[in-house]
Amino acid sequence: MRLKTIAFLALLPVALHAEEPWGKVDLQTAKSLHDKACTSCHIRMYGGDGSKMYLRDGRMLSNKLEVLQRVTSCNAMVNSGWFPEEEGAVAAWLNQHYYRFEN
Ligand code: HEC
Repeated sequence: MRLKTIAFLALLPVALHAEEPWGKVDLQTAKSLHDKACTSCHIRMYGGDGSKMYLRDGRMLSNKLEVLQRVTSCNAMVNSGWFPEEEGAVAAWLNQHYYRFEN
């Protein structure tokens, strides 16, 4: 009984981690990737540093998966050649800094 509990607890972080739609990502790289490829249009539309794009009223995203999907579709427009892990890192970074979705 007790052993089972320990085994369960040991697996818990893995299970929680798997819930992130972007999996395990390297947040260190995200900001520079983002700033290089992702601000031009957003600044053209909203001025400043473009981050109002992520904070605007009536934005259509409501969870992490949608952030990731949006990053993927914007990334497809710029044709930056990012790997999926890089899209994931930027999505995770955007969520951490702007969206703050829990799920
Ligand atoms: C070619 C211009 C362009 C580039 C470059 C671009 N985007 Fe966008 N992005 C848009 C437009 C236009 C919208 C708004 C779409 C809408 O209103 O439905 C948008 C919206 C978004 C949103 C959703 C904002 C919200 O909360 O409503 C995210 C997230 C996003 N972009 C991420 C990125 C990322 C990450 C990159 C870099 C890979 C990127 N974008 C590069 C044009 C661009």
